Amino acid sequence: MAHVKAKILNKEQVAPSIFKLSLLCPEIASSAIPGQFVHVECGKGKSFILRRPFSVYRQASKETFEILFQVVGKGTESLAEAEVNSYLDIIGPLGNGFKLSNNCKKVLLVSGGIGIAPLTFLAEKLYSTEIIFDMLIGFANYKKVIDFSLQEKIADRIHYSTDDGSLGLKGTTVELLLDYLKQSKKPDTIFACGPEPMLKQVALIAKQNKVPCFISLEERMACGIGACLSCVCNTINGYKRVCADGPVFDASEIIWD
Ligand SMILES: Cc1cc2nc3c(=O)[nH]c(=O)nc-3n(C[C@H](O)[C@H](O)[C@H](O)COP(=O)(O)OP(=O)(O)OC[C@H]3O[C@@H](n4cnc5c(N)ncnc54)[C@H](O)[C@@H]3O)c2cc1C
Ligand code: FES
Repeated sequence: MAHVKAKILNKEQVAPSIFKLSLLCPEIASSAIPGQFVHVECGKGKSFILRRPFSVYRQASKETFEILFQVVGKGTESLAEAEVNSYLDIIGPLGNGFKLSNNCKKVLLVSGGIGIAPLTFLAEKLYSTEIIFDMLIGFANYKKVIDFSLQEKIADRIHYSTDDGSLGLKGTTVELLLDYLKQSKKPDTIFACGPEPMLKQVALIAKQNKVPCFISLEERMACGIGACLSCVCNTINGYKRVCADGPVFDASEIIWD
């Protein structure tokens, strides 16, 4: 884990309210694994005392990594205004990422909305292995769809859903998953990230189909390193810290509210 000032090399608005930042930071770029996150100081003053967590979106090189974020409040608003060539105070990489076991031969990545961030990184890693993978990607509408580097190379493995039917299946990622399981060979593992109601449904469907499923959870965080207990979630093995014991968990462990 490093505590660094990372230079912003590039900022790009990739969809309405969604931005991508490229950060020069060899310490994090060279060591992060998919599913890990960074904790970012988003500004100065009272509103920014608590850092905000963002998944590592891409390892662009050994020296550069990217984050992809949606503007939802003061922290992300401020981050969207950060200037190229300025520096961000960042701690990372943090948390436990997605683990690929020897059983992973055909896996399925399921993302909802900005949940695409850690799964893009995972897809890029998988692309360099023998593991076959498909991606199910859900967005509100086609305008929110985020292009990513692998998109053309794996176009035949990507299935989209949009709430308004403007791209792919009309419906949610959960409906897309049900549709996929009816039509395709069962995957041996599912990896998912997205809003909690989606993850809850994905976990249930995985259980019904007897497919191991790993999900990346989100909780409000303070310290980000396991010390304050502000990010706990309830599991069959007691309360666990999303920042230090996760954010990736075996879905069968989670007790949903
Ligand atoms: C491990 C982890 C990885 C994440 N990765 C990404 C990412 O790659 N891209 C991205 O856009 N976002 C990601 N998030 C969510 C991101 O941290 C929050 O959107 C951000 O902290 C909001 O800060 P804010 O000051 O703009 O909003 P706030 O003013 O703090 O909150 C605005 C709204 O966002 C909600 N919110 C705030 N924090 C969270 C949170 N942690 N989980 C769910 N809802 C939240 C609030 O309830 C509120 O409705 C991640 C969260 C976690 C825990
Ligand atoms: S944020 Fe402090 S323990 Fe997780």
